[in-house]
Amino acid sequence: MFEKNSLFLAPMESVTDCFYRELILKNYPDWDVLSCDFLRIPSTGIYPRKHILKHFGDSHYQNPIIRKKTIYQLLASPQSYIQETLEELEEMNFSWVDLNLGCPSKTVCKRQGGSYLLSNLVQLERMIKTMRSSFTKFLTVKMRVGFQDDKNFERCLKIFEDNGIEAITIHGRTREQLYKGKANWDYIKKAVNLVKVPVIGNGDINSYEDAQRIFDYTNCHSIMIGRGALGSPWLAKNIREKKDLQKEEIQQEREYFFQSYKKLLKHYNQNESLILRRFKGFARYMFGQDESDLKKRGLLLRSSNLNEFMLNL
Ligand SMILES: Cc1cc2nc3c(=O)[nH]c(=O)nc-3n(C[C@H](O)[C@H](O)[C@H](O)COP(=O)(O)O)c2cc1C
Repeated sequence: MFEKNSLFLAPMESVTDCFYRELILKNYPDWDVLSCDFLRIPSTGIYPRKHILKHFGDSHYQNPIIRKKTIYQLLASPQSYIQETLEELEEMNFSWVDLNLGCPSKTVCKRQGGSYLLSNLVQLERMIKTMRSSFTKFLTVKMRVGFQDDKNFERCLKIFEDNGIEAITIHGRTREQLYKGKANWDYIKKAVNLVKVPVIGNGDINSYEDAQRIFDYTNCHSIMIGRGALGSPWLAKNIREKKDLQKEEIQQEREYFFQSYKKLLKHYNQNESLILRRFKGFARYMFGQDESDLKKRGLLLRSSNLNEFMLNL
């Protein structure tokens, strides 16, 4: 499904919707694999097909090449309609489903979904078996290294391997850590030695140099980038070209990103205040800590309308 050294754009709730992924596919084709943010499987019944399609993006679904390189991520709890949803995705001919085992949200974990499942191996195994028996195409998981601690880490890997999971993405933090400290790539290295399926390294890859280091240190099959891609959607190209950008080049890339994204969103009749809110979300991640960067970021975040934001770029 994906070659060695592939670059994955991480699923990110309220970011990686079909508009954003369309921009990435058009402007930053060095990303090899994309993912939609998670669809929460309900516990009251199965979503209508229309809703499943809308979450993924109808036009992306209609295009077999895009469909093949886009992961459909799911968030499930033991009570949810897992089997029926997977059967529906199979029938709709989706080629890649991923289970979210990293979401740290209190509400999600209270309902025994996301990272909570790493602490309940009986439920985890039952869920993986159900998914595997209902979906014949590519099935993967994306995990943190544990819920409160890492004591189940190796047993989780074994559950995945023994039950037909075909690739494992690892974010080197427990749920307890949220985003604190540094992601610990030792877990990724350990998993590479323990399992035969591809391991995708994730966590704190923000530059070409980081990408090089995680490949060298862990020998992982591929990497996935989240916040680093939010801040630098052009990062996959830098990694392929083996260089990080200079400050002036970053400024140019940033302007190009916002200009072309604005054009795309306007084309889809998105209203200006929604676009502004979305852009501020990106601006938060796009600047360094030096004085001029902080000043620029402050100006962008204070912009009261889209025009002002674009002029402040
Ligand atoms: C805004 C945001 C939304 C996220 N939404 C999801 C999601 O829908 N599914 C998921 O598996 N992980 C989600 N994550 C986690 C990322 O995919 C990734 O695992 C995490 O940010 C660590 O990687 P990074 O250091 O490259 O950001 C989200 C992260 C961020 C910052």
